[in-house]
Amino acid sequence: MNRPEKVEEVLFTEAQLKEKVRQLGGELTREYDGKNPLFICLLKGAAVFFSDLIREVECPLEIDFFRASSYSGTATTGSVIADERTVPDIKGRDVVLVEDIIDTANTLSKVKEIFLAREPKSLKIVCLLDKPSRREVEGFTADRSCFEIEDLFVVGYGLDCDQRYRNLPYIGVYKP
Ligand code: IMP
Ligand code: MG
Repeated sequence: MNRPEKVEEVLFTEAQLKEKVRQLGGELTREYDGKNPLFICLLKGAAVFFSDLIREVECPLEIDFFRASSYSGTATTGSVIADERTVPDIKGRDVVLVEDIIDTANTLSKVKEIFLAREPKSLKIVCLLDKPSRREVEGFTADRSCFEIEDLFVVGYGLDCDQRYRNLPYIGVYKP
């Protein structure tokens, strides 16, 4: 796919993403052997990563979706929008929450709190990208993240800027 004008550089190629997702899928296959985990996709950003990841996990699993957001353009709004009435039924389940990127961690820490209140048997957070230098929720980490990145705004492979670029097959650096 041609690189759009505002996508300055490719940070992770399709092949690099595929390899990492394959590795992570293998690890999760071993960890959830004999269990029936519920993989939950945080919409919309994680949709592409999620659909690739679940196909690399070779154990019986179920999927569900939850919507949460806090971004407008390239800036976080700080307030997390999530409708608690749409939280999947997770009580007593081994839940794997799949997110695209942890930035300030405001979104995930809020979602984690909402989920833990529903008493899952276990909760693991898996994310594709992590920007630790931007953290506002101190000490917050995922149980697994595929790549650590610097303070850059990235798009592609599900990640957007104002809803665009989600369909790029690679992760690229966005320059406004
Ligand atoms: P946080 O609440 O600041 O951790 O932000 C997490 C959410 O912001 C992610 O789920 C993404 O949707 C979005 N986000 C953060 N950084 C980026 C980025 O570099 N590109 C696209 N979306 C981002
Ligand atoms: Mg987003």
